Amino acid sequence: MSATAKKRAPMPDDIRAAKGGTPLVSLTAYTTPMAQMMDAHCDFVLVGDSVGMVLHGLPSTLGVTMEMMIMHGQAVARGLSTAMMVIDMPFGSYEESPEQAFRNAARLMAETHAGAVKLEGGVAMAETIAFLVRRGIPVMAHIGLTPQSINTLGGYKVQGRGAQRNALVADATAVAEAGAFSVVLEKVPQNLADQITADIPIPTIGIGASAGCDGQILVVDDMLGLFTAFKAKFVKRYAELGQGAEDAIAAYAAEVRERSFPGDEHVFADEVKK
Ligand code: KIV
Repeated sequence: MSATAKKRAPMPDDIRAAKGGTPLVSLTAYTTPMAQMMDAHCDFVLVGDSVGMVLHGLPSTLGVTMEMMIMHGQAVARGLSTAMMVIDMPFGSYEESPEQAFRNAARLMAETHAGAVKLEGGVAMAETIAFLVRRGIPVMAHIGLTPQSINTLGGYKVQGRGAQRNALVADATAVAEAGAFSVVLEKVPQNLADQITADIPIPTIGIGASAGCDGQILVVDDMLGLFTAFKAKFVKRYAELGQGAEDAIAAYAAEVRERSFPGDEHVFADEVKK
């Protein structure tokens, strides 16, 4: 799919049909201005539950709520016109039963106008994915490192190495067969990502996976250098905006303290000059 040729936002079927073509481009977004900046360049934008760590200072994504997702989803929707919006289902909003997942997915879509939801899990979530898809909710799956499960995965480790390999292939196959229109592969070995991409009929979206995936996604604050608490190996920083922002704030603080800001050009005279 070519971002420059877009006239309308793609639908999940367009994303599915992009399998094997020009790689799909996506980033996360949480605010209107950031969504506006990426709209022309991305095929889809994910309102990720990474918002909890990136913007709210939470230690993981586990504390993210439906209300947070809806608020950020509405903000992102205001900034998009030609990229599709996908929204994450937060931890605890879908795992209990397909019915619980439907209620919360329907609420996310109705209140944010997202084109699809994303949820974490493979074989274990296949029944839920099929239930949602049969009821009109397009689902992007997310397998490999699934950050909502860090407590059972034992941290942010690479997934699918050695004996885990077949289980990850089974996850990918299960979500594709359940009707997901694409699947995020996070932090898996490159050759496994390539194998899954070749084996399943839906687009794979890599993050810490392989350039051979059908698309790529990054957390926008990571790639802009705005989130500096840590940097995963799979993140490429395309800018260092965090350092730029801190330098600007330090310059402002110094100028306020030495009374060189505001300058004459920033203040108002008592009378307007004729
Ligand atoms: O929440 C998130 O940002 C994600 C990604 C795939 C980056 O799920």
